[in-house]
Amino acid sequence: MVGGGTTLIECKLLNRKGTGIDINPVSVELTRKNLDFEGFSTPQKVTVGDVRNLSQIENGSVDLIMTHPPYINIIKYSDGKIVEDLSNISSPKKFCDEFEFAIREFFRVLKEDCHCAILIGDTRKSRHYVPLSYYVMERFLKNGFILKEDIIKIQHNCGSTPYWKATAEQYNIYLIMHEHLFVFRKPRNEEDLSRFRYSTGI
Ligand SMILES: C[S@@+](CC[C@H](N)C(=O)[O-])C[C@H]1O[C@@H](n2cnc3c(N)ncnc32)[C@H](O)[C@@H]1O
Repeated sequence: MVGGGTTLIECKLLNRKGTGIDINPVSVELTRKNLDFEGFSTPQKVTVGDVRNLSQIENGSVDLIMTHPPYINIIKYSDGKIVEDLSNISSPKKFCDEFEFAIREFFRVLKEDCHCAILIGDTRKSRHYVPLSYYVMERFLKNGFILKEDIIKIQHNCGSTPYWKATAEQYNIYLIMHEHLFVFRKPRNEEDLSRFRYSTGI
């Protein structure tokens, strides 16, 4: 879900070996273009692919995963033309069911004791607050990850920001002007996690 390649640009600047995948060939092309700058030699790899199937990546071979999925269909990344694009899904449950395949792949390819970070936000639909970030977090926990951090990132340029900005500042509150940067850890095989579990099996 490499999009325009921000993560791979950072990898290049930090001399880390990065692999980016996106379902949209336009994003892959854009990323390649954005990576075309001199002065850093560590190779970056970017390919068209579906995040739900990372079969080209070996089990337990990745040091760090950074991902940034669509927030259901708030922004459509391919105008409905690419069926595998998760931004075509409008139902939060269907979105989470599909994204869960990706979460299982993240768990498989990550090394033990290493981290997977995901940036994800919430939304509103038909006067309901949809806590998408928490639904997604639950799927990570269900699939064996441990939550290490929940970092709140202020989201700029939301449609409603100008309307709420003054009130939010006056009363020291945030409305949906934030995203969650969840950092999960894949536990070591022998780790005893029994005291962190709660009753639904998560
Ligand atoms: C929120 S954007 C990522 C933006 C990125 N952080 C950047 O710096 O540009 C989400 C990306 O997920 C991609 N995407 C959607 N469904 C996908 C899938 N099934 N597999 C891989 N990528 C997918 C979209 O094409 C889009 O580029």
